[in-house]
Amino acid sequence: MRKRLIAGNWKMNKTLKESKSLAQDILEELKGKEVDVDVVVAPTLININGVAEVVEGNIAVAAQNCSDKEGGAYTGEVTANMVKEAGGTHVILGHSERRAYFGETNELLSEKVNRVLDQGLTPIYCCGEELGQRKDGSYFKVIENQVKAALFHLSAEQFKSLVIAYEPVWAIGTGETATPDQAQEVHAFIRKLLVEQYGEVGNQTRILYGGSMKPGNAKELLSQEDIDGGLIGGASLKAADFVAIIEA
Ligand code: PGA
Repeated sequence: MRKRLIAGNWKMNKTLKESKSLAQDILEELKGKEVDVDVVVAPTLININGVAEVVEGNIAVAAQNCSDKEGGAYTGEVTANMVKEAGGTHVILGHSERRAYFGETNELLSEKVNRVLDQGLTPIYCCGEELGQRKDGSYFKVIENQVKAALFHLSAEQFKSLVIAYEPVWAIGTGETATPDQAQEVHAFIRKLLVEQYGEVGNQTRILYGGSMKPGNAKELLSQEDIDGGLIGGASLKAADFVAIIEA
């Protein structure tokens, strides 16, 4: 049985004060609710430590990115080790915004995945097609390539801690969600790739859906067989909405 995971990607929102307060509000909203779900929040890098101090391990804290290097003269970059010492346990990698605006490639991401695993942290590896690729039917090929090129050098043992997030780019921040059938189709496809490569480990890997998930559509999406959780952007910035998704 795969334990569900709900992660909030706060993107470049919230100052330190606001981040701590949102984290506090999420804890308050969760109080007294019986939820058997792993909960992760991803503030901006500079606020990871502050949020980690507020949540005290009651929910997990993720970085939204880290370097593919172990350290040195790389102005403006942050290592996986620094994320870990600041209290982070997960790192989102390969989000479509990083791919589109910062030129991140599958090859670079395979190195980032290595650095994150070297530190014993959990990568949340994002993949997903653009609208044109959905329309011309090439999306399976695109996703297969994103998954294989960045991840399939890993051993089954390394793969165990990995989480994958399927996020169709056309559904991110647009209000347009993939239908549960569309999402399940791709999740099942990714699952098949993982099982072919890693056997039972692939069956145990959690695959999250991301792209305009909100309280109103979360239940239906999360009831699909291969959807094991969500990576939430916009709706994770309001504690009540985020917790409503966790409850769903
Ligand atoms: P959204 O973002 O929920 O605002 O669509 C999801 C994401 O980018 O991770």
